[in-house]
Amino acid sequence: MNIIVTGGAGFIGGNFCHYMTKKYPDDTILCIDKLTYAGNLETLEPIMDMPNFKFFKTDITDREAIYKIFKEEKPDIVINFAAETHVDRSIDDPEVFLNTNIIGTGVLLDACREFGIKRYHQVSTDEVYGDLPLDRPDMFFTETTPIHTSSPYSAAKASADLIVQAYTRTFGMPCTISRCSNNYGPYQFPEKFIPLIISNAMNDKKIPLYGKGDNVRDWLYVKDHCIAIDLIIRNGKEGEIYNIGGHNEKNNLEVVKTVLAGLGKSEELINFVSDRPGHDRRYAIDPTKIHGELGWLPETPFEEGIKKTIKWYLDNAKWWENIIKGEYKNYYEKMYGNR
Ligand code: NAD
Ligand code: TYD
Repeated sequence: MNIIVTGGAGFIGGNFCHYMTKKYPDDTILCIDKLTYAGNLETLEPIMDMPNFKFFKTDITDREAIYKIFKEEKPDIVINFAAETHVDRSIDDPEVFLNTNIIGTGVLLDACREFGIKRYHQVSTDEVYGDLPLDRPDMFFTETTPIHTSSPYSAAKASADLIVQAYTRTFGMPCTISRCSNNYGPYQFPEKFIPLIISNAMNDKKIPLYGKGDNVRDWLYVKDHCIAIDLIIRNGKEGEIYNIGGHNEKNNLEVVKTVLAGLGKSEELINFVSDRPGHDRRYAIDPTKIHGELGWLPETPFEEGIKKTIKWYLDNAKWWENIIKGEYKNYYEKMYGNR
């Protein structure tokens, strides 16, 4: 099979390309990525020369270029990871989120209609459900929880989901959607919380913790997300949404403390800063559906995953040092300089 993976030079898409090229040597992974600030060819270096991997530096909003790839490569499956993904950037400048996350999804769906595919899979997020109260640990997001977004990022992702559902119903397209909780693991861009803690702590820099540090996220090791998507594209039912996550809730203060302890660094590095506007309080996934229908459950507990992640960042310091010494310096100053 020919499988298009968009956003494959990013964090989760990159891990997915590694996973799929090794697991399915007879399938071809066609990676499409614009290489924005978040895309990094070094992430793909270990698989770039594999015979079942091809890379296209292309913007998913570029209709002509996308149609050309579909015409020439005849994909069987399309998995859309490509997106602008950082909530803080979406608060600073929403426009590119609307273009890539909404228009880009529309272009891919149109290409699928035009050329025909067996499955289109949209990689979405639990953030489309908004947030849950901190004092209701009995509440979880299910696939029928209403969409109720908070940030320009989550609103753009929710819009894309609605477009996928409209194409499924109106044009009978074979689509699935997955909504996953926060991922962590190798190759995550250092602006996101866990790699930011690691890279700052390694340089003995303060770690900005928003508000009181009591916001809760449901952390999932990235390989478990890759396994879930692979199951959905093969065995998931057309037209369905699958939540992915697994009762790994931690508040942000607990996460910082765990990572600092893992690195042997002092908790004095923690710096409480002003909160993110509209900051979602708690995310928590109910994975009953994907467990019941596809047999998926997370394999890596947080304690093990965080150790592996810390080790990966220590062993691959060149990967993130190259990032933080470049344009990232200006971003960091803009976001945290006066906070
Ligand atoms: P990322 O920011 O690390 O990577 C995004 C990739 O998309 C980059 O390689 C970037 O170059 C590429 N890209 C951006 N705009 C593009 C465009 N116009 N055309 C082609 N490529 C473009 O993101 P990630 O954390 O790997 O997230 C991947 C997907 O998973 C996203 O759709 C995101 O919404 C979703 N998701 C992420 C998480 C998480 O915790 N990171 C959780 C749930 C869902
Ligand atoms: P993030 O990795 O940006 O993911 P998301 O906002 O999509 O869940 O942030 C995870 C949590 O960490 C979130 O509650 C915000 C918080 N956070 C901080 O406290 N400080 C930071 O510098 C960052 C980037 C995030």
